[in-house]
Amino acid sequence: MDNNENNNIDSNSVNVTPVETPVETSAPAEVATSAPVANAPVEGEPVVNNTGTNPGVVEGGTPKKSNKTVIIAVCAVLVVALGVGLFLLLGNKKEEKPVDDNKTVSNPTSETKSVVVYFSETGNTETIAKKIAELGGFDIFKIEAAQPYLEEDLTYDSDSRARVEQDNPTTRPELAKPIDISKYDTVYLGYPIWFGSAPRIIFTFLESNNFEGKTIIPFCTSGSTGINVSVNEFRKSNPKLNISNGKRFLVDVDDSVIEQFINGR
Ligand SMILES: Cc1cc2nc3c(=O)[nH]c(=O)nc-3n(C[C@H](O)[C@H](O)[C@H](O)COP(=O)(O)O)c2cc1C
Repeated sequence: MDNNENNNIDSNSVNVTPVETPVETSAPAEVATSAPVANAPVEGEPVVNNTGTNPGVVEGGTPKKSNKTVIIAVCAVLVVALGVGLFLLLGNKKEEKPVDDNKTVSNPTSETKSVVVYFSETGNTETIAKKIAELGGFDIFKIEAAQPYLEEDLTYDSDSRARVEQDNPTTRPELAKPIDISKYDTVYLGYPIWFGSAPRIIFTFLESNNFEGKTIIPFCTSGSTGINVSVNEFRKSNPKLNISNGKRFLVDVDDSVIEQFINGR
């Protein structure tokens, strides 16, 4: 006990004296000799002082104060470095968010945006159009005439509205409302066959949009007529259209056939 107490007293007296009595020029020597007697936390300090090159010791003139200053400075630097590190870490995490969002937005299936646009008067083409949209996860729009087609407009009579329109290739029935396909890359275009080709309102739609850089994939329903004549007419009316050969569907088609169509097979 006594020894310990004495040691404490000794070491305290050694430690305290330089602090309370600043010595500007002899400070390094004092610290060098007294430090080994001091307790453990002080033992590391002479290493700095012994070099005699520590600017803090020379400029401060008080080794203990200088060492404390150095330790405080080091701690401060560490705290600042820790703070900067945390800031950068959190900052980087914040910046990652938009990337994650982008990943969601740019997932491979949605990189090319497709839409189904269709015209249907008795529901057959609509059935196929809705299946394509559902199975492909596409947006869907219905083409409607400003002047709706009545039942009597859709007969095979020589003077029915449908017949008259189809007999005149320049007829362009007005749309009830415009359909903007500007944000889509691929347009699945559905229609019934009327007197061998596509209803004239399909041409109205094609001519009311800019299809530059877009792909049109036609599909149709019919009693028996194929899709080729209508597709050739589209190409003839606008050679710049990028339009595939398309497909005619039966109304009660299996989903697998629709999926093959969407996958381009
Ligand atoms: C005015 C009119 C003309 C038609 N012309 C043809 C035709 O030339 N060839 C054919 O196979 N089917 C023809 N059809 C039958 C339709 O193409 C068929 O019923 C189609 O599935 C109807 O589609 P929707 O229900 O979507 O309107 C015609 C139907 C109508 C109303």
